[in-house]
Amino acid sequence: MSVTIKSEREIILMRDAGKILAEVHEILREMIVPGITTMDINKKAEELIRAKNCIPSFLNYNGYPASVCTSVNEEVVHGIPSTNRILMEGDIISLDAGVIYQGYQSDAARTWGVGAISAEAKALIDVTKQSFFEGIKFAKEGCHLFDISNAIDDYITSFGYSSVRDLVGHGIGTQMHEEPQIPNFRQKRRGMKLQAGMTLAIEPMINIGRYDVCVLEDDWTVVTEDGSLSAHYENTVLITKDEPELLSML
Ligand code: MF3
Ligand code: CO
Repeated sequence: MSVTIKSEREIILMRDAGKILAEVHEILREMIVPGITTMDINKKAEELIRAKNCIPSFLNYNGYPASVCTSVNEEVVHGIPSTNRILMEGDIISLDAGVIYQGYQSDAARTWGVGAISAEAKALIDVTKQSFFEGIKFAKEGCHLFDISNAIDDYITSFGYSSVRDLVGHGIGTQMHEEPQIPNFRQKRRGMKLQAGMTLAIEPMINIGRYDVCVLEDDWTVVTEDGSLSAHYENTVLITKDEPELLSML
């Protein structure tokens, strides 16, 4: 399948999906306190998503067993919620979730601190979020796709961080993963020209240490190879002729 340009009707549904997902994230954020388990977060996420007449897109996707990915500390993405994983003061956790509303998808991730966190952890979270905003300065008609990748990478490398290479952002629409793939690290080519009506999930995954990652025995959890902390920030974005519209932000 190639890149899809959404019609005005489709954009309205993607706006609805994105708004619902943004609201889910706002509520989940308030749950992030020492002592709760990652399964508590998953239960709440699934309940909220279904209460808004959406389907949790991650559940059973390629066999993934939950509605939200909960990735703690050196876990980069795809952490599986568990009743045994209790959040501790000083942890950082990324929550990645997706919803399907009337056939249209939204995908977004946030990283939060649990209680008081180190200055080092806070800086990683802030820079990762800002790298998304640096990237989307180029998310408009006429720019090239890899302008986004390069802006993200140049920003985070200026802090000495590394951008994960094995995982990328993606187009999104009726499918969670559509073309194009969107790397978060510097590219030699410019990539395709962006057009109004494209919807993209842009999602920097940033490590304090090296970019190398590996997958745990559970076949899902991606962790940094060097054990360094990792953060993730993602929104579903609509390309327009001017500023991008952030569909999964309130
Ligand atoms: N947001 C992720 C992505 O963009 C997570 C999907 S993995 C899943 O690919 F299996 F949990 F769905
Ligand atoms: Co995604």
